[in-house]
Amino acid sequence: MSLKAKIKELQKRREEVILGGGEAAIEKQVKMGKMTARERIISLLDPESFQEYDLFAAHEARDFDMDKKTLHGDGVIIGTGRIFGAPICIYAQDFTVAGGSLGLMHARKITKIMDHAMKMRVPLIGINDSGGARVQEGVNSLAGYGEIFWRNTLASGVIPQISVILGPCAGGAVYSPALTDFVFVVDNISKMFITGPEVIKTVLGEEISMEELGGARVHCEVTGNAHFFAESEAECFDQIKKLVTYIPWNNTQKAKPFPAKKPKREYKIDSIVPGDPKQPYDVRNVIKSITDNSEFFEVQELWAKNIVIGFGRMDGETVGFIANQPLVLAGVLDVDSSDKAARFIRFCNAFSIPIVTLVDLPGYLPGIDQEHAGVIRHGAKLLYAYSEATVPKITVILRKAYGGGYIAMNSRHLRADFVFAWPSAEIAVMGPEGAANIIFRKEIMTAEDPEKMRQIKIKEYKDKFANPYVAASKGYVDAVIEPTETRKVILHSIEISANKVADRPMKKHGIPPF
Ligand code: HXC
Repeated sequence: MSLKAKIKELQKRREEVILGGGEAAIEKQVKMGKMTARERIISLLDPESFQEYDLFAAHEARDFDMDKKTLHGDGVIIGTGRIFGAPICIYAQDFTVAGGSLGLMHARKITKIMDHAMKMRVPLIGINDSGGARVQEGVNSLAGYGEIFWRNTLASGVIPQISVILGPCAGGAVYSPALTDFVFVVDNISKMFITGPEVIKTVLGEEISMEELGGARVHCEVTGNAHFFAESEAECFDQIKKLVTYIPWNNTQKAKPFPAKKPKREYKIDSIVPGDPKQPYDVRNVIKSITDNSEFFEVQELWAKNIVIGFGRMDGETVGFIANQPLVLAGVLDVDSSDKAARFIRFCNAFSIPIVTLVDLPGYLPGIDQEHAGVIRHGAKLLYAYSEATVPKITVILRKAYGGGYIAMNSRHLRADFVFAWPSAEIAVMGPEGAANIIFRKEIMTAEDPEKMRQIKIKEYKDKFANPYVAASKGYVDAVIEPTETRKVILHSIEISANKVADRPMKKHGIPPF
């Protein structure tokens, strides 16, 4: 055969394999409102940048008539490419081929690209659309998952790992996304659960739809398993591209700097926070009043809304923001907000992203629900994450910083590098009302007019402690600043921390309260 003929043969083979599960299966995929695996990769990556590997991989399963089945690419596409120029390793499960189920060869392809990502120290993106472990391949499928989980864990904190759920992600398969840093879901398309509706019906006799059980909204609003919600696959890919611009390729590098920009004029930092400490406001406006071009890329926007986390840029450099949100539950800390912030802190710390914390909270959410849900154990994760982090850590106390909340929100005592407070800051063991009721109880009770006395005592406590100056006099606050000075002092702090040394005792690893 001439070379020309051989090239023709290659082209023919390629065309055949690229069709995946065939036209009928592709049609079914499209009818479900889903792109094919190949379309997804092409849409996500820079044009012409995708290089595929193992296109001709074939399974070796023999049982249950598997020897008679040709599964093109074994139900998964792997390769390398770029997003805005950044190198990426990627895999996408092809539901049109045996439901994207994971057999031995399918798993080998995924682990091959994971190994590449680790060797090349570049981010890994996994697009999940699969019926789970390939039933016909038995324990080999389970082994495949185990190999993936092991690699996810090894890669954690070394390269960013992104999971995209674009179809079913059932059974143990959900644990790979759960081990990665960011999970993206799309309304009506993404489904994640350990035990599906049929199992629930058999075991518990309850009818539940896949959407109710583990649809996109459930994982964004209720479980916190997902970080980004999109209405469509196209929107989801735009979100992923945006995220990639904020994060570095690996843990030895910094995120790519952008040209510095000033915040937009419409965000006036000195008129966002109300003087009355009981009045709510949207802390995202404070963040936007200090970031470049007032841009803030929020993470887990729909879950545990009483804390806000996400990325912004300051003078072109990526910064991670953590802020209590007075709009929701007055910004209290609770089980979910502690988990949310702790994981984000660990991501920022692993990938050299400075952390800015904005504080305004009355403390922890009281109640039996929180206590029994383990607010002690979960709250401890936040203390651990802040204490452990060695990246530059800057705190700005905007208003309330009461009790345990003051300590937990990156206080000096957990080794914040710089702590600033606005003149509106109130740093105390608790709010003036609660404090007066406890320490002046006798005087109030025995007074001729107890209510009048209560108000006098509240004012007395407020005058003494509800300000930043007591903390500033002890060096717990480094400087009391005007709100308009906030961006300047944060930028200065980051700049001055460029060569920060934060020694920690040698250990194999700590034992955070997960
Ligand atoms: C082999 C599978 C498969 C699987 C789907 N297919 N899942 N083949 N192993 N796990 C095949 C179907 O037989 C079918 O093949 C094709 O994929 C498309 O599937 P449909 O059922 O027609 O699609 P749909 O109606 O859209 O339903 C999708 C689905 C359903 C909800 C995902 O297929 C399903 O419930 N699958 C089983 C899910 C599951 O229980 N997986 C095992 C989980 S246990 P044909 O040839 O007919 O087109 C697990 C353990 C992992 O994953 C543990 C790791 C630690």
